[in-house]
Amino acid sequence: MGYSSWNDCASEVTEVRIKRVTKALIDTGLAAKGFVHVNIDEGWLSARDPSGALVEDLVKFPSGMKALGEWIHNQTVPGKGKIMKYGLYTCRGTCQCGTAKYSNAPGGHGHEAADSKWLADAGADYLKVDSCCGSQDHATAFSDYGKWRDGLNATGRAVAFSLCGWHTWYAAEGARLGNSWRIAGDGTNWGALSNCINSNVALQQYAHPGAWNDPDLLLGTGVGSNDLATNPNGCFKASEIPQADAWYMTSELQSRAQFSMWAVMSAPLLISADVSQVAPYTLETWRNTEVIAVSQSFRAGGPYQGARVFGSDLSFHAGANATTGSGHNVWGKLLPGADFALVFVSNEDAPTDIACTYKACFEALGVERNATYAVRDVWAHKDVGTLAAPFSFTVKQLPIHGGVAMYRFTPKS
Ligand code: GLA
Repeated sequence: MGYSSWNDCASEVTEVRIKRVTKALIDTGLAAKGFVHVNIDEGWLSARDPSGALVEDLVKFPSGMKALGEWIHNQTVPGKGKIMKYGLYTCRGTCQCGTAKYSNAPGGHGHEAADSKWLADAGADYLKVDSCCGSQDHATAFSDYGKWRDGLNATGRAVAFSLCGWHTWYAAEGARLGNSWRIAGDGTNWGALSNCINSNVALQQYAHPGAWNDPDLLLGTGVGSNDLATNPNGCFKASEIPQADAWYMTSELQSRAQFSMWAVMSAPLLISADVSQVAPYTLETWRNTEVIAVSQSFRAGGPYQGARVFGSDLSFHAGANATTGSGHNVWGKLLPGADFALVFVSNEDAPTDIACTYKACFEALGVERNATYAVRDVWAHKDVGTLAAPFSFTVKQLPIHGGVAMYRFTPKS
């Protein structure tokens, strides 16, 4: 749990912004709730010196990456102490992804052990290794990532290792290579994120503590987006960042739908927005302790990631003038004891009722037929009744394009 700079500032990330965001994570209370990682994505590296050592961009990061790591590690979260963690980024290919301004930054290919040492020495607690300019051959990709794993392990530093290869075929090998692996392309808006959800449907079996499917970053809305076109305090011009097309949620509800889904999918929770600027509604979304609890707790013995128990693939098309979507889902996750959570999500073009019967939703989760459950609406923070045989549970008029409802079920003794 934490922050990642990519969808916030793209390669325009700077030391000043990282310090501001770190303070905002603490001041908003997000850090105390668990959002402790401050991960810098592409944009901090500029070159390799003649000896092969990495050279950071001292214009954007004047103190250097090691000093910034020390600064982050030294911040105090009230009541918790110095718990903030530091994340860095590189690429397994021969170059980095090459966003417009920094197209010359080097990749790590052939330098895995030395770069791992440099990054661990800089204080990294998390490393994302991207796949740009790298082979798409599966065996070669796995072998590349194996070199980074070995390089990081050789440093002796505990570093959460995040693979970024954009495909579901990483899932079956992910646990032996790292701690999380991207399963789809960049989740730049609710349409792309809907796709990431669809990609995760078949991957439940691969997730377990220390090894997670990664459907990409948490997005904000409106002023929390740092495109200068929509935010005068923003940090980049979308025209200069090729990937920045339609780069945000189109409604605040979508951030809440995403957070609910990421909780039930046990996904990494990395906010990629300036938390000092996002709308209060979005901040409340990410601070919801009951939803965070669903994300961070598991049924003993698994499965550790939720499953789609009703519905088919979601789609959403966000264009300049047209906005249409389709699909609605129910996802369920088993929680400690005999608790479980359900998330209802809709991308339909009209408000939609979703009816769960025992067959449709509860049987797939192995819900005990004879039990009676207390039902809690975790967004309203209210107990809303009980559920018992014959297990009929309907959510009415779920809003369009990211409408969401989320419940926790606890057996009554
Ligand atoms: C790729 C990754 C993104 C981000 C960018 C940086 O597109 O998938 O998450 O790291 O590169 O350029």
